[in-house]
Amino acid sequence: MPRLVVVSNRVAIPDPTGKGSAGGLAVALKEAFQAYRGLWFGWSGRVSAHPSLEPKLVDKGNVHYALMDLTPIDRQEYYNGFANRALWPNMHYRLGLSEFSRADYAGYLRVNRSFANALARMTRPDDLIWVHDYHLIPLAAELRALGLTNRIGYFHHIPWPAPEVFGTLPGSRELLRSIADYDLVGVQTDRDADNLRRGIVQEFGATQQGTDVVVLDGRRTRIKGFPIGIDVKGFQQVARRSPAHRVVAQTVASLGPRRLIIGVDRLDYSKGIPERMEAFERFLISNPDQRGNVTFLQIAPTSRSEVPEYASLSRTASETLGRINGALGEPGWVPIQYVTSAYPRSVLASLYKIARVGLVTPMRDGMNLVAKEYVAAQDPEDPGVLILSKFAGAAQQLTDAFIVNPNDKFEVAEAIRDALHMDREERIARWKRMMKIIEDYDVSWWADSFLKELGDRKGTNKARR
Ligand code: G6P
Repeated sequence: MPRLVVVSNRVAIPDPTGKGSAGGLAVALKEAFQAYRGLWFGWSGRVSAHPSLEPKLVDKGNVHYALMDLTPIDRQEYYNGFANRALWPNMHYRLGLSEFSRADYAGYLRVNRSFANALARMTRPDDLIWVHDYHLIPLAAELRALGLTNRIGYFHHIPWPAPEVFGTLPGSRELLRSIADYDLVGVQTDRDADNLRRGIVQEFGATQQGTDVVVLDGRRTRIKGFPIGIDVKGFQQVARRSPAHRVVAQTVASLGPRRLIIGVDRLDYSKGIPERMEAFERFLISNPDQRGNVTFLQIAPTSRSEVPEYASLSRTASETLGRINGALGEPGWVPIQYVTSAYPRSVLASLYKIARVGLVTPMRDGMNLVAKEYVAAQDPEDPGVLILSKFAGAAQQLTDAFIVNPNDKFEVAEAIRDALHMDREERIARWKRMMKIIEDYDVSWWADSFLKELGDRKGTNKARR
């Protein structure tokens, strides 16, 4: 059995107290690391003026962690700058927010190179290397330049935009070319896969073999959709337990007979949080009988607050919230409850279970696991209703949700009304169909099918181009 080497910007080391909530990728990789012996390499999350060129090593059972510190300027240029101020908005179709700087791009390439140098010293020839997300697109190209011939895979967790959109970003051509240094590239949906393959074919005249493979300068790269899933059983167990947590008890007490609508997202402009508040406002204006009878709870943990566009979103969300609550609230009833702290998985699972409606309306999203977790947490006898943006990857799978266009607040408001009125029989029928898909394509399916294809040496690329 080869060793599995995972590389990602954030590395989730298990919490020794066992109390902290494991990050999404840590949950997703847990089983894979049980099957393979593993190494997880990435940023320590720390900055230091003179970081070591060698990673700090931490051993936890069968997984070894190798953690690199960044300099303050690396963090600024690579993480805040190119990854989160240029690539992230571009890939979420927000060209007006995408800020390119040559210095940031150089910093992004520099960090990828220094990660590759450190990682190459730790790898063995038969390791399977699995790189994650947009911070590390050029990593395989850097590793190949150092002579590595391992099978290297990449999973892109966020949308891959149409070539016309991606092509507007300076540096995009070089990044597209570096995709060809991977053996397998996974994206969330078939549409993302098609966008990426089309980009490579159009830009370089690469040839396509069958549906999934592009061949560039003699190297074959398989590009296909592997929709990421959740740990269904684990999440359902947590949801069943109903923790004696203050937040859950207070939510239940403050709701009384009112029904709860819930939204849970990082505070990110791709999630459509102010737009969602306005859709709820529209619902209350069009359905005055519902005033005082329903509460919308939006949990939006603060994220990337050093990036100016996130600070500005935070102000917009607070202003929108204040305006709506001021205009429509009454003594004893606040229409929208808004919190920016992060809650443990167990609390979220209980809140999902209590909520009659899950409102998941991103303007653009790779997959959106909140949608899947909301469905998994429901009581099979009396499930709630999922309202889901057509621009979330999850909408390709969960076609039994209420699918909406988040740009149309009237449409979202009508979906809220219909969701609150939906009879139990229909709620159960839709929930069952969604559950089947969530169970069939759970997180083990995702990791297993990606790693199986990555390990499959048929049609292997032998040498660097
Ligand atoms: C998205 C990205 C992840 C990222 C996460 C949190 O889900 O796909 O790669 O880790 O957001 O963002 P942060 O900038 O805090 O790592």
